[in-house]
Amino acid sequence: MAAYVLGTLLFGLALAAPMALRYPRLLLGGKLRAGTIAASSASTRVAWACETLGSLACLEQREEPLPPVNDGECLIGVRSIGLNYADVFCVLGLYEAANKMLKESGEGALVPGLEFSGEVLQAGKGVTKFKKGDRVYGFTRFGAYRTKLVIREKLLQPMPTDWSYEEGAALLVQGLTAWHGLVVLGNAKAGSSVLVHSAAGGVGSAALQICETLGCSTVGVVGAESKMSFLKERYPSSCTPIVRAPERKYKKQLDDMGRSYDVVLESLGGRYLTAALDHTAPMGRLVHFGATHAYGGSGVDGLLKWLKLVPNYLARPLLDPGKMVSTNRAVFGFNLIWLTEREDELTLELNEMLTRGGLDKRPPAVGRTFPFAELPAAVDHLRSGASVGKVVVVVE
Ligand SMILES: NC(=O)c1ccc[n+]([C@@H]2O[C@H](COP(=O)([O-])OP(=O)(O)OC[C@H]3O[C@@H](n4cnc5c(N)ncnc54)[C@H](OP(=O)(O)O)[C@@H]3O)[C@@H](O)[C@H]2O)c1
Repeated sequence: MAAYVLGTLLFGLALAAPMALRYPRLLLGGKLRAGTIAASSASTRVAWACETLGSLACLEQREEPLPPVNDGECLIGVRSIGLNYADVFCVLGLYEAANKMLKESGEGALVPGLEFSGEVLQAGKGVTKFKKGDRVYGFTRFGAYRTKLVIREKLLQPMPTDWSYEEGAALLVQGLTAWHGLVVLGNAKAGSSVLVHSAAGGVGSAALQICETLGCSTVGVVGAESKMSFLKERYPSSCTPIVRAPERKYKKQLDDMGRSYDVVLESLGGRYLTAALDHTAPMGRLVHFGATHAYGGSGVDGLLKWLKLVPNYLARPLLDPGKMVSTNRAVFGFNLIWLTEREDELTLELNEMLTRGGLDKRPPAVGRTFPFAELPAAVDHLRSGASVGKVVVVVE
């Protein structure tokens, strides 16, 4: 036993040491920077940028010159920035695409952020869809943590007139993730039985909206009792909400419910994935696109994740292809960043999500908002796992 414990500790150190050396503040924490927003002039903008990735303390405000507005581009005065869990992984240095961009861009810093809403301040030559003063929302492959953006027209959408800027910044990434997982890969349709993990989060609540529109019967799983009222109020008849049991007891919880699911939207990882796969119906699809439970967490929870690195690693789900054949189940994995490099496909899916998925019928659920000057606190709130709906940063 003693040998096992010692071996486990040594193995843990071997795995954790390189990470700890690379990202020391991940273990030690760090002071969040906030305060008043740096001033910007007509020719500059303010950004929250990271020169290194590894902790929230890396985020620093800086003033930068505005880039030129080229043909086909618009200058946007950002009014709201929508946060995604990917931002947390990005800032912590755990998002490979962000690490690569920081290394290869040659700019010496990375500005995180994937989506925003705002007003067109200037439309460049050749822009046909938008003019000065239009309200828009859009996507950017990192770089949204800024007060102004220069963006290609193709990546912008007109905002529904009755939506606030906060709501406009809350739709695109999580809505597309939900649509791609549920419908494009999961083939959810009227009558499908669906299980959604982290149902009160950004992706989760977009998924429930799509399920309601399509006519699916949905079980929404959340991590805390405090999130139940949100689901009951917003989806009173289309979703059965449950608080998930601890990881080792989750399979029994699903057993006791006695249901199996045609589509599972799985973003927790670990034993939550295996338990949900066991409850995927024959010809059903489990779509895995996140590992928030396995790698998320702040404070003590985050530290415990590091200490449990080895047991968690050893207990990671191992999928047996033979069993998928005999049980008639499929497992998909995807990363939306792949789609962002294929703009035509992205636009097609976006239109489908809005029309067939019904995401343009009702504004997205915005949870908490934070001022731009307190952006790191907003990322920290999302990281804590306590957020409900979308976390949005407001630029005055
Ligand atoms: N692959 C892709 O392309 C893609 C794109 C977008 C998002 N995602 C993934 O989808 C998931 C949801 O993303 P989101 O942006 O909508 O975030 P979110 O669901 O609004 O927030 C993350 C949620 O994860 C859950 N969670 C479970 N254990 C946690 C822990 N230890 N620490 C923190 N949170 C924990 C919490 O909900 P409960 O406790 O209620 O479960 C928390 O609210 C994430 O796993 C994200 O990485 C993947």
